Parts: sequence; structure tokens; C-alpha cells
Amino acid sequence: MKNKILLLPGDGVGPEITTEAVKILDYIIGKSIVDVSYTEGDIGGVAIDNHNNPFPDETLQKARDSSSILLGAVGTIKHSNNPNNMKPESGLLALRKNLDLYINLRPIFILPSLISCSSLKPEVIKDIDIIIVRELVSDIYFGEPRGFDNDSRSAFNTMRYSEDEVERIASYAFDLSETRKSIITSVDKANVLETSQLWRKCVDKIGKKFPDVKIDHMYIDNAAMQLINNPSQFDVILTGNLFGDILSDEASMLTGSIGMLPSASLSKSQGVYEPIHGSAPDIAGKNIVNPIAMILSLGMMFRYSFKRDDISDSIDNAVNTVLSNGYLTKDLSDSNDFTSTSQMGDLILEEFKKNV
Ligand code: IPM
Ligand code: MG
Repeated sequence: MKNKILLLPGDGVGPEITTEAVKILDYIIGKSIVDVSYTEGDIGGVAIDNHNNPFPDETLQKARDSSSILLGAVGTIKHSNNPNNMKPESGLLALRKNLDLYINLRPIFILPSLISCSSLKPEVIKDIDIIIVRELVSDIYFGEPRGFDNDSRSAFNTMRYSEDEVERIASYAFDLSETRKSIITSVDKANVLETSQLWRKCVDKIGKKFPDVKIDHMYIDNAAMQLINNPSQFDVILTGNLFGDILSDEASMLTGSIGMLPSASLSKSQGVYEPIHGSAPDIAGKNIVNPIAMILSLGMMFRYSFKRDDISDSIDNAVNTVLSNGYLTKDLSDSNDFTSTSQMGDLILEEFKKNV
């Protein structure tokens, strides 16, 4: 278990970006730099095709046997009208729930060489270094009851949080904040929602144990605006599952391309690492997707699951160097002479070999 990695390439661009990350992983294993091994499994649309189930038992078993999982993306056009439990996305949600991956970390950073890719002015974004801490296994995503009413002309979902669920994610965020700037922005909708009133109360309770950390409570609508208006005011953003989903897509755009950003989803003992972008079926199979979010996700795996910050730093540095040398994938480039997915993977591997 300790050194086992499960690869779940998934759908759309997932397999292509997985191939590029595995180039680095194979090098690490081949040179015995870290003692890890990997196996593969199905999730999402590909699992529906192969096993008639977006999260087959076999995948759950493999996931339980692994210390960490590298996941590409899930989502297909052909299964998008399936009932909820047969949609590719439900495979991802089942993975999160079954492994109790309650901590979702989404770092939002901007590399100096990419400042011009953002739609915002350079002076607005140049100093951003934000980490979104999103609760991942509760909220309206999982709350019961849910469903369509009998006549299917109305439908309902339940937004629900318990004190324990809020306190454990808040504790993680406060611990993290102490290693950073000691400012937490907790995002909710406490002017309207009871779940958010509970959220605020629990965040304040945990906050009492961290007198040096400053807590700012912010409503989600205001936070969405502030992220565009003045993003450098943020350091750790702590929020629930639904608001975190929305804010992280928004925040990713500060950086110019969602194709750059990795994420980690952690339980007490395991981690799933995946790009924050989706399966992008429109560009799949064309060798044009940006593999960097996936490669940086592999980097996060070495940092969080294997406590090898040195490997993680080497991966980050390799990515930085390749981009600063002017190699840009289609999403980042304004010319027709862009770097393909596989070239980008090769270039990053070559840099990695030099500095690992
Ligand atoms: C994400 C995705 C997922 C989510 C989908 C694919 C279920 O948007 O990881 O942000 O909503 O959590
Ligand atoms: Mg999302």
C-alpha cells in the first residue's frame, strides 16, 4: 500500500495527459529515485463502457490498495444524458466519498513567463499565490434527500453540513494557514443559508485555537467579485464543496489557462491528484492538450503522499524552465507554431533529468 500508485486516466484528454506524466514517473522508477510502483484502472465513461459502472468494485479495491492515485479526467458526451448514477462524473464523486477525501487543495499561482496569458492586467495578478481549501465530500453534492418529484416537473437537492464535517476541514485550513501568511478567507452565504451559519460558527470555533490567524468571512458573491478585482488580498480560501467548485474555476482564469493547475484531494491517509480541468472532449486525441496540470499533479503527489518535496520542486522547476524557454502549448500560445502535448512532456522530462 505504502508505495503503490493507481493511475486512472479516465476520459477525453485524460489518457493523453496521463501518458505525459507517466514519462516522468517511469524515469523516477527506472532510476530508483523513489521506491514506487503503479497499476492502472478504469473510472468514468471508460468504466461504463468496460464494466457498465462508472466506479467498478475492481477500481474501488485497487484504490483502497494504493496510497495515492493520479487521475486524468472524467466526462463524456455520449454518457451525458444517462441517469445520475450512470454518469461518468458519479464515478469521481464515488471515489471521493469512498476514500473520504475531504480535503481538496487547489493552488492558484501564476508563473512569471505566463503573466501575459491572463485576461487581467499584469499589475492585478502578478503577486497572486492563493490556495483554495475546498471541502469535498459533503454539501449539496451528497445531501439527502434529493431527486425529481413524481411528475418530474420539480426537483430538489439538500445542502447539508454537520459540525464535524466543517470542523475537520477548517482545522486543516488553519494548520495550513500557519505555514503561510496566517490569513484565512472563509467563504459562505451566511446571510441566507443555515448551512453557512453553521459553517461560520464552526470556523470561528476552530479559529479560537489559532489566535495568530486572521479570519475574514466573506459571502460567496462578494468573493467572486473580489477575486477578479483584487486577487492578491487572498492567501488561504476556505470554503464548501459547491462554492469551492465554482470559485476554483474562476480563480484558475486569473492564471491564463485552466490547463496549468493541479489539485490534491486528501483523506487522513490517502491522496488523489488530478488537474482541475475536465475531460475536454472537443480537443481529445489531437495531441494539443496542455499536460502541465497533470505533470504538476504528479508533483503534488510526491509532496503530499511521499513527502519528497525535492522531487516535487524538481518537477515544478522543469515546468518553469520549459515555459520560460518559450515553449507553449496551444492554450497558452497565440501563434500556430505551438508545442504539442507529447513534445511538452518530452521537454519537461529532459529538464527534470537535469535537475532531479
Ligand atoms: C471538479 C469537477 C467535479 C466537481 C465534477 C466533474 C463532478 O467540476 O473537480 O471541480 O464538480 O467537483
Ligand atoms: Mg469543477
